[in-house]
Amino acid sequence: MKIDPWSSSTYQDYARLREEFGIEEFSEDLWGQLPNPHRLLRRGVVFGHRDFQVILNAIKNSKPWAILTGLMPSGKMHLGHKMVIDEVIYYQSIGADISVAVADIEAYATRGFSLEETEELAIKEYIQNYIALGLKPENCRIYFQSRNEDVKDLAFILGRKVNWSQMTATYGFSGETNMSHVLSPLIQTGDILHVQLDKYGGIRPVLVPVGVDQDPHIRLCRDIAKAHRLYNITKTRDARIGVFVKIDKDVDKLLDNAEDVIRKLGFKELERITEYKALYVDDATEQDIQIIDENLAPTEVSFKGYGFISPSATFHRFMTGLTGGKMSSSKPESAIFLSDTPEEAKKKIMHAKTGGAVTLEQQRREGGKPEKCMIYELFLYHLIEDDEELLGIYNACRNGEQMCGSCKKYAAELMTNLLEDLKEKREEAASKIDLYLS
Ligand code: TRP
Ligand code: SF4
Repeated sequence: MKIDPWSSSTYQDYARLREEFGIEEFSEDLWGQLPNPHRLLRRGVVFGHRDFQVILNAIKNSKPWAILTGLMPSGKMHLGHKMVIDEVIYYQSIGADISVAVADIEAYATRGFSLEETEELAIKEYIQNYIALGLKPENCRIYFQSRNEDVKDLAFILGRKVNWSQMTATYGFSGETNMSHVLSPLIQTGDILHVQLDKYGGIRPVLVPVGVDQDPHIRLCRDIAKAHRLYNITKTRDARIGVFVKIDKDVDKLLDNAEDVIRKLGFKELERITEYKALYVDDATEQDIQIIDENLAPTEVSFKGYGFISPSATFHRFMTGLTGGKMSSSKPESAIFLSDTPEEAKKKIMHAKTGGAVTLEQQRREGGKPEKCMIYELFLYHLIEDDEELLGIYNACRNGEQMCGSCKKYAAELMTNLLEDLKEKREEAASKIDLYLS
């Protein structure tokens, strides 16, 4: 199995994806520790993560942390695209600072859009909707990849620690792939890591909430971040916790620095072996690696390192299209666009695939299948906030008490409210865009 961020395929078996790619399960142990967890988090739509614990620790210790995500301005914004920003707005409400990349270079490189076209799409389709959905301008910055020199410089500079074999193995690039396309994942790495440069808030935990198709980019970025660290903190084969200096310059000074930082954290049993460029922390356990890592990372900057903390990520499921398959801008009947009129949306809802039985009589007898129903998915992802109400519909459907006709009508009603509200707020948003653009 391969995850291709540029293909239009969808995924069925999320548990298998997790296993195959070493994505951790995003379980209640994690989201249950968040204040007022968002419905997408508590309902399993966000199904996996990498290093989310790092974010939880920052939240618990009231330390700064950031959100970085990106939007691809290559078409109209639909409900599938709404999920990321719903998550971002939630994280903003619990204290994250927010950066949003407009992936105009990626859209140019991989979809053939001109940079001018992407600007208009980004503003009209995405940014206005982001504001309408509730993104606040405080501690929030939206930027274009093509206009951020720091992002582009990082792409070039950090690219030295990735080679062509790694790129082809990750993305399946071939001799025909254009070079801008080849570079676009490095630009995305620039997006994700630049927020830890001094100018953008410095070293801190960063969470990247994305659809699971983005995992290859996340893996690449995490590898690159680690490759540029000056210290490697790890459990050794003889089960000690060791801090190793990875470069040959300033080894003594780096070991002095590590000793200093680690003593301040309260560890006492330190053994230094300079020939190994190592400092062992014998009163530390595996659980302490993260705290040692987080405290050493910012000090790397004074040794001309970057000190990037590996970015964390969460992964959400794709929305199924209303007609089955994937929700996609290229199939308008499959998607509800945020700019659809209530009538257009209603029509699509009325034609949507449900989990209902062939006849009413059979449905009364055997019940419907909400887990296979696009209408139920609309409720679960977007339309119903109250968990009790959602459960009520689930049960009524399973028991054959709820029929699809009235269910669809209710969905259309809720969708009308959502779309009308957004339309009104988009109009107000148009004049506020400058507050967000950097
Ligand atoms: N590649 C993403 C997409 O196809 C867009 C993107 C660009 C992005 N930079 C990012 C996503 C940084 C997350 C983080 O939608
Ligand atoms: Fe879907 Fe509602 Fe029909 Fe159940 S009753 S299958 S939830 S449309």
